[in-house]
Amino acid sequence: MYENELKALKKAGRFRERKVYNVTLDDLASNDYLGLSRNKKQFKKAVKLVEEFTVISSKASMLVNGYHPIHRIFEKELASANSFSEGLVVGSGFLANLALIEALVRKGDMLFMDEEYHASGVMASKLLGDRVVTFSHNDVDDLRAKLEANPANRQIIAVEGIYSMGGDLCKKEIFALADEFDTLIIVDEAHSAGILGKNLLGIFEHYKISIRPRHIKMGTLGKAYGSYGAYILASKNIISFLENRAKPIIYSTAPSVFDTALAQVNFEYIQKNAKELRKKIAKRQAVVKSMMNVKLESLILPVEMESNEFALFMQEGLMEQGYLVGAIRQPTVTTPILRVILNLSVSTKKLKHVLALIRHNTVQ
Ligand SMILES: Cc1ncc(COP(=O)(O)O)c(C=O)c1O
Repeated sequence: MYENELKALKKAGRFRERKVYNVTLDDLASNDYLGLSRNKKQFKKAVKLVEEFTVISSKASMLVNGYHPIHRIFEKELASANSFSEGLVVGSGFLANLALIEALVRKGDMLFMDEEYHASGVMASKLLGDRVVTFSHNDVDDLRAKLEANPANRQIIAVEGIYSMGGDLCKKEIFALADEFDTLIIVDEAHSAGILGKNLLGIFEHYKISIRPRHIKMGTLGKAYGSYGAYILASKNIISFLENRAKPIIYSTAPSVFDTALAQVNFEYIQKNAKELRKKIAKRQAVVKSMMNVKLESLILPVEMESNEFALFMQEGLMEQGYLVGAIRQPTVTTPILRVILNLSVSTKKLKHVLALIRHNTVQ
């Protein structure tokens, strides 16, 4: 079964498999931006927090009896720090995008989605029929033209704070366009929360945007926050509507209690150490500027590869030198890339070494 499909994937250099990598490799592949995945002190704090409660697992949907005091504490703290009125924990970022896009775009509404939006949002948008328009990546003029050409009861824009593969920021003008057209705007901050802004809260803070009821922020816990799960921040009405209409929230077991506790203690850690972390981020971005002549605003460095095969070859070679980087191929990206994450737990000396190896083996 599926032999032909698997053969075709292998022939195109698109075959993928999950692997347990050697833990001694320096991890420049995962989204563990702040290096919290190995922080046992934080892990123990989360265990202690969970132990304070009688119930330690999720048990049921949040709409039945799965909603836990730790979920509530985390939602309130996140909403308040980000100046949103209400928060909602969700099982994963994939589910959060499904929830937002499937539930919020009603009959008579229209979604305007950046063409590089995450696969979870793209998949959800397939449920909308002709209620979705894709605009060219980060293209303000194209978005404006499409907003003008597609009036709707509600217009809803969907963008990412930092794009996961290119590492580029959503343009500030897109937020201005949302104001001008009075649209809702969903911002997926999977790769920008924990990276951008004075307190590392994300792109709203970075651009100093005051939060309005039309703003919706989605973030994941499996990246900078060093855990697993996701959250949505929005107005009270929008959160209440999602509780009533979003299937991934109603018909799915509540998010893991322990993972929410881990995100909670890690969020506190990030808030407390924001200044120090920002310095480390800036230092790594300066290394990339000096070695690759690339001005990064994120911690994602994409390096274009000539083919899927060459991306895999480079990844193998770097592994032999002790470094793990991502080899991202089609269809995730149109041009294959090495995706180098400037993980703060990897020293700048090692970062310089790996960048020198990449530079030496590619034409920049
Ligand atoms: C931009 C973006 N949104 C959503 C997701 C999905 O989040 P999760 O892994 O929590 O399902 C990811 C990746 O995982 C992502 O990169």
